[in-house]
Amino acid sequence: HGTSRVNEKGHLEIGGCDTTELAKAYGTPLYIYDEALIRQKCRAYHEAFRQSGFSYQVAYASKAFLCMEMCRLVAEENMSLDVVSGGELYTALQAGFPAERIHFHGNNKTEAELVMALEAGIGCFVVDNFFELEVLHDLAKERALTVNILLRVTPGVEAHTHEYITTGQDDSKFGFGISSNQALQAMKMAILKPHYHVIGIHSHIGSQIFETEGFVRAIEVLSAFLNIVREETGHTMQVLNLGGGFGIRYTEGDTPLPVASYIQEVTDAVREQCTAYNYPLPEIWIEPGRSIVGDAGTTLYTVGSIKEVPGIRKYVAVDGGMTDNIRPALYNASYEAMLANRANEAPTETVSIAGKCCESGDMLIWDIQLPTVASWDLLAVSCTGAYGYSMANNYNRITRPGVVFVKDGSAHVVVERESFADLIKNDRVRTREFV
Ligand code: LLP
Repeated sequence: HGTSRVNEKGHLEIGGCDTTELAKAYGTPLYIYDEALIRQKCRAYHEAFRQSGFSYQVAYASKAFLCMEMCRLVAEENMSLDVVSGGELYTALQAGFPAERIHFHGNNKTEAELVMALEAGIGCFVVDNFFELEVLHDLAKERALTVNILLRVTPGVEAHTHEYITTGQDDSKFGFGISSNQALQAMKMAILKPHYHVIGIHSHIGSQIFETEGFVRAIEVLSAFLNIVREETGHTMQVLNLGGGFGIRYTEGDTPLPVASYIQEVTDAVREQCTAYNYPLPEIWIEPGRSIVGDAGTTLYTVGSIKEVPGIRKYVAVDGGMTDNIRPALYNASYEAMLANRANEAPTETVSIAGKCCESGDMLIWDIQLPTVASWDLLAVSCTGAYGYSMANNYNRITRPGVVFVKDGSAHVVVERESFADLIKNDRVRTREFV
């Protein structure tokens, strides 16, 4: 997919770069992002919304993968940016991302984070709870600012990838419940606050969703809610933010819809509800993360030790693992992989890919078919672009891999590989003399 192909040497090539050369130049493990594919995903969302005729914003959910160059790229692609912490906000601001296109999420934004966002003049705060409703307003008032807010609500629709449950989601740490009437209460309070400009509501029903049914159900609940708000307060909302969650294909069993179909079904549902309630068409905002960067990322590893448990299993260990991709250990997530240096050889054996961490659960892939693997082969695990680097950690004091963007035959380091010096830079010792 994307610009990946097997070249004349039988090597995996991405963005016109031979991955065996990338391994030599930058070492492994290495995150490789296909820049053209990221841009293509952003453009597909824009195109789908243009077709719909709705006003819209597509906010990239930066939690999926963020670094300063990624901010620059998504800014260039006319995306807005969803941030959920001071760190993500800081990264975006340092990269020069336009503040008015930043949306700030989170169920427990600290006072320092709120002040930072207020002073930066971000476009919108997604207010999550009653505490924030008061604190943010006080901080805005002290600074004589009026800020745009969305209220995060829970429509009582929860997506479990394939199924939707209409109870349960209310029992969430995020947002104001619609069914408990807290959302209506919060809305009335917010509307009365002079330093708020309440522009709409937000809901996020889950992640890695393959069908539009859950979104359509949520849109029904949200529309009924907006209608009640209008009846009780006289206020119409201009923004309906439907969150992220559009699924991608990690392995064969995953069958996402094309972005154009998602957006068409979602916008049709909003139009239908608005017609039914005679409600002015809102702007539609969405927040895709995984579906922008997931397939664009590949992690390249070097194979080291290979252990055969006679008659049971062959463990192939690589030079990374749960420190650069915690998703298999955390969620039982599945991935596909190939040998990057022997990309055109047919599979001959079933092996399991182990990481190098001191933890039995540090397995990246169980039972995958590969050509007979040898130590020093290069293993490319695909679709690691979302929540790989962003959830990377230093367990065992393993350094985080570098990140390169590849396009048209050139590679750019966008995050340097961590060094051992980075690992100790915040350590403080009282003395270097040991007794
Ligand atoms: N908006 C909100 C409010 C969210 O909570 C999320 C994801 C997104 C947007 C983006 O969702 P996406 O389009 O990427 O599915 N660490 C997990 C995923 C956690 C997602 C949390 N919220 C994973 O590795 O699968």
